[in-house]
Amino acid sequence: MQATAPIGIFDSGIGGLTVASAIAKCFPQESIIYFGDTAHLPYGEKSIEAIQHYSATIVEFLIAQGCKLIVIACNSASAAAYELLKDRYSAKVAIIDVISPLAEYTARQKVKKVGVIATKATTRSDIYAQQLMTLNKDLEVSALATTLLVPMIEEGFFDDNISHAIIHKYLSYPDFEDIDALLLACTHYPLIRQEIQDYFGDKVQVWDSINPVVEKVSILLNKRKLSAPKTQTAEYKFWVTDYTKSFEHTTRIFYGETIKLESVQWKDDALVLSMPLQD
Ligand code: DGL
Repeated sequence: MQATAPIGIFDSGIGGLTVASAIAKCFPQESIIYFGDTAHLPYGEKSIEAIQHYSATIVEFLIAQGCKLIVIACNSASAAAYELLKDRYSAKVAIIDVISPLAEYTARQKVKKVGVIATKATTRSDIYAQQLMTLNKDLEVSALATTLLVPMIEEGFFDDNISHAIIHKYLSYPDFEDIDALLLACTHYPLIRQEIQDYFGDKVQVWDSINPVVEKVSILLNKRKLSAPKTQTAEYKFWVTDYTKSFEHTTRIFYGETIKLESVQWKDDALVLSMPLQD
């Protein structure tokens, strides 16, 4: 495995860009291939089997692109497929999920009760409660599926009346009344972090997986001696399985005007390369 090789990062859509842009900022010499499976968005509504199939096919695609490390920048895919992906591919490539880094970070903090907001696929798995309570048996965990948030964000509704009303409705969940911290257990949610923090004020800490994942990436690159040379100029590639305006818009917010979206399509359950979407 070459240190000059790219890091592969995938999600169902724009959410994983919150993780990808933090990785790009922290490791400016690392090339990144980002894969947004927009044709299958939202993963949170799909069956475990479907998410496992999409994730395994994407990991094979990223391995074929020569990635040295793969970050599953999606909680729904981490919940449904991380174990399977590790079993199947960890001999070929290092794989990082977004759930265990956030659970480990949370278990180290001084909190008693933690709220979790996530997609249905993530809450259905109960994985945050399981991991948190294994790490700290005194923690109380309450999770809520906040299904409308991903389509709301993908449609570009943040910081307006619509997003306020939806966020307030969800966060007034009675079980969240006495939480000390709220975990944003979907990589889309950092895009509405401020609105969530404003709802709670200082009384609740709001945490996401971005920094804990960046830390994991750093540890892994060092341990495996896979850090790109300091002199390397990073290249970024963005693959999508269905072109959406919001993906292009958000990608440009994070990466400026230079991004070029490339298209890959699902055909008969396999990924097939197609033409670049723009020059
Ligand atoms: N951003 C994703 C997650 O962290 C997926 C959202 C979705 O496609 O439902 O769960």
